Amino acid sequence: MLGVETSCDETAAAVVRLDAAGRAEVLSSVVASQSEHGAYGGVVPEIAARAHVEAIDGVVAAALVEAGVDVAGLDGVAATAGPGLIGGVMVGLSFGKAVALARGLPFVAVNHLEGHAVSARLEGDAPYPFLLLLTSGGHCQLLIVEGVGACTRLGSTIDDAAGEAFDKTAKVLGLGYPGGPALERLAERGDASRYPMPLAMAGRGGFDFSFSGLKTAAARLAESAADEQARADLAAAVQDAIARQLAHRSGKAMDAHAARFPADRRFVVAGGVAANRTVRRVLQETAAARGFSFAAPALKYCTDNAAMIALAGAERLALGMTDDLDAPARPRWPLDQAAALAAPTHVAGRKGAKA
Ligand code: KG4
Ligand code: ZN
Repeated sequence: MLGVETSCDETAAAVVRLDAAGRAEVLSSVVASQSEHGAYGGVVPEIAARAHVEAIDGVVAAALVEAGVDVAGLDGVAATAGPGLIGGVMVGLSFGKAVALARGLPFVAVNHLEGHAVSARLEGDAPYPFLLLLTSGGHCQLLIVEGVGACTRLGSTIDDAAGEAFDKTAKVLGLGYPGGPALERLAERGDASRYPMPLAMAGRGGFDFSFSGLKTAAARLAESAADEQARADLAAAVQDAIARQLAHRSGKAMDAHAARFPADRRFVVAGGVAANRTVRRVLQETAAARGFSFAAPALKYCTDNAAMIALAGAERLALGMTDDLDAPARPRWPLDQAAALAAPTHVAGRKGAKA
């Protein structure tokens, strides 16, 4: 399966083989990160779309060469059809459709979030069903993943995603974009206890997240964090507060998951923020305390990549779940449509959760 991903600022292509037992083998995974956005402190959608157009031919060609297959050796093509920055999504989606049309191959329009949801299945052991924490730059949600394309949302952020809190804090600390990895490095030298942060949403029922208060507090504290040690301490405090909130809500969701699937106590974390070692450690401890297994993708499959899109497409193709070539590009596309309609997190005046 060829996978194509262009929903944000990474142009990516990959070839993944799925065997009869459902095991995935990544034959290639090429990711070209756009460097054009650094000067703006965030991704500029129009610049991203144009950069995808320029990069996509070469990235797909490189993925095929690296995999040692040519187009004739493919069984299908999968491309991200949303959610994401619409100009970029259209580039990869059109490219994928064109390959499928020209070669008469089946086509799968993949939800980017479903890609993250299967990313721990690329090289690891994460059989369905499992509880998923999907935490990235645009999303933060807890989902029960029962099988291919079958997700139930337990909760999601009511304002910003965890990755945004990392990125915005990194920005006020002058660390550049994307800030998560840089903030993690700075936090290594910091002492989190210098800036005690409250646990957001602690007294609230349900499984939703909130990170905007933390982001604002960090921006205010950054003004007085003059020396290098104070900046490192603040970075550590924000990282710690994000990890604690993710663990607190995930722990509650594990209890709900265990009530429904007592024999399937499996917890998976995916998305860019899952690359953070403190986040991984705290979540692993939370899972262990509740008798849950813990799985997270290899670091290179936490952030955006096309291997996860190829795998999501391959799993769908194996079940005959293909799409027509008029599948639309979608800026918003919740994994659990019913929950999103019943309890929209994205209401007028709020920003953050794309889904
Ligand atoms: O999954 P992803 O590549 O893109 C989205 O779908 O959003 O996630 C990107 C996000 C960014 O906010 C980035 O700062 C964050 O993941 N991130 C990290 C780390 N690596 C990436 N955050 C904290 N620590 C990291 N090591
Ligand atoms: Zn992503």
